[in-house]
Amino acid sequence: MTDPALAALAPDYVRRIAPYIPGKPVEELARELGLDPATIVKLASNENPRGPGAKVRAAIAAATDELTRYPDGNGFALKSTLAFRLGVPAGQIVLGNGSNDILELVSLAFLEPGDEAVYSQHAFAVYPLATQARGAHGSEVPARDYGHDLGAMRSAISGRTRVVFVANPNNPTGTWLPPEAVRAFVASVPRDVIVVLDEAYNEYLEPADCADTVSWIARYPNLIVSRTFSKAYGLAALRVGYGVMDATVADLLNRVRQPFNVNALAQAAAVAALADDAYVEESRALNRAGLAQLYAGLDALGIAFLPSHANFVLAHVGEAGRINVALLKQGVIVRPVANYGLPEWLRVTVGLPAENERFLAALARALTERP
Ligand SMILES: Cc1ncc(COP(=O)(O)O)c(C=O)c1O
Repeated sequence: MTDPALAALAPDYVRRIAPYIPGKPVEELARELGLDPATIVKLASNENPRGPGAKVRAAIAAATDELTRYPDGNGFALKSTLAFRLGVPAGQIVLGNGSNDILELVSLAFLEPGDEAVYSQHAFAVYPLATQARGAHGSEVPARDYGHDLGAMRSAISGRTRVVFVANPNNPTGTWLPPEAVRAFVASVPRDVIVVLDEAYNEYLEPADCADTVSWIARYPNLIVSRTFSKAYGLAALRVGYGVMDATVADLLNRVRQPFNVNALAQAAAVAALADDAYVEESRALNRAGLAQLYAGLDALGIAFLPSHANFVLAHVGEAGRINVALLKQGVIVRPVANYGLPEWLRVTVGLPAENERFLAALARALTERP
């Protein structure tokens, strides 16, 4: 912040926020290093390397005919489609500009200065950001084996706690909690504390590992399940996600959201994406094979990693800063995670087979380079 007087206009808790560090865009690296963007491999933001399917692209193209109109602020078509699939009334669904928006809306609706939100160490970076932006206190609970320690999280809930965030699977660790453990945790949380179960990577789980967590809401009205179209559905650029919750909670979130928070192309694309289950299944299969490819390559290089339940792998490379620079110079973008308290690790998103190979070859070279 270069102008202290201007910066002082914001509350102290806003000035103390450490900004989110996104994955480096391909164009930025191309500009910085004078590389051809077409030669750069980006495995840094857990996107689906296939992009959206043909039916979704066609739906987006068709929706451009109506660009002059505001989108449907109530998201009727998308909410109806989701409601049918999930077996809940549309009034229990809130759409978001990405599921990130749902996390923000939760903090807007339920947190005020002096309140507390509980989340795990090494959990998704937006939980502390959304908490601090409201002047609330973040209670970060030490992780167990890099994943959430639900017992410790339950113990951390105090009289001031209004919200608990649980990511399953978690980003950036790829760790996963069995549904029964999550359900028992939700059952143990006082009803006046909102539990956000962030399932951004739900579609990448093997079907045997998936639980109908949405059905738990009837029993636990303080539970919010959030999901996204940014990952397995391949629509990260359009920004669309959703939360499922009790109708009263949905009403509160709708009061604090922007009236047109999800754009028309995103809504049309998401409806089409939900009609193409085969695409998601293929993406899951590609991801499974990609994980195996990365595991084998990392093993061959003697690099430890955390087995992942999502579409990325956290690898223990040691000198992560140096290795990251060496990868960038070879046109490979991955994600350093020092800001997650993991300074010796890099997170690599599963790409197409050739992209995974590029990463592994670049890593092999980076590891042999002298500092
Ligand atoms: C665990 C988790 N939750 C939520 C999000 C937000 O994604 P989006 O806003 O694109 O839905 C991400 C994105 O990386 C994530 O990893």
